[in-house]
Amino acid sequence: MSNNLIVGFSGNISRPSSTRRFVEHVTESLAHRAGLQHKVFDVEDLGASLATARSVADLDGQARGIVQTIIEADALVIGSPTYKGSYAGLFKHVIDLLDPADLRGKPVILTATGGGDRHSLVVEHQLRPLFAFFEAFVVPTAIYASGRDRIDGRLSPAILSRADQAVAEAALLLDSRQSTTAIAAE
Ligand SMILES: Cc1cc2nc3c(=O)[nH]c(=O)nc-3n(C[C@H](O)[C@H](O)[C@H](O)COP(=O)(O)O)c2cc1C
Repeated sequence: MSNNLIVGFSGNISRPSSTRRFVEHVTESLAHRAGLQHKVFDVEDLGASLATARSVADLDGQARGIVQTIIEADALVIGSPTYKGSYAGLFKHVIDLLDPADLRGKPVILTATGGGDRHSLVVEHQLRPLFAFFEAFVVPTAIYASGRDRIDGRLSPAILSRADQAVAEAALLLDSRQSTTAIAAE
């Protein structure tokens, strides 16, 4: 079932957040290109019940609603700040609450931010295997933005161009999902 909704989820645990801004940019671009609605959430939005939750049922109503919206999205734009060479711990805690089948076949764009260039492969070595576990359709282009790529809150032309490439790939997947659904309904 399609909700005609692109959902961005950012692993930032404080605000303002460069990761959230980056996820917002990519989510808006994909929604615009696909002609769909969009929503963006971050770990902060899940609130206090997240830290003690051991399953989705332990979350409060708002946090449960956000997790459900992520599960039901037509496509996801995922982002995390790089912490100690990997994704943020609380971001992983949200993902750990999902059922292994929740993201199967879902188009996903992966993004991350970091202070420097040293951990730029976090998108390939940490985030991509995580979403492979869920059998999601992760697009080939993943985007890492370091501090040098974000000057005064503006993304560099190189990062904007890679984001466009990832969006084009996700739009292709969204198109083929719609045709598959149409064929299945015949
Ligand atoms: C606890 C912590 C660990 C970090 N570890 C790394 C790291 O290993 N590599 C890196 O490039 N940046 C690291 N950073 C910098 C953040 O990844 C970077 O500032 C990020 O863009 C912050 O995103 P945000 O504005 O969404 O919070 C770390 C920052 C914090 C607070």
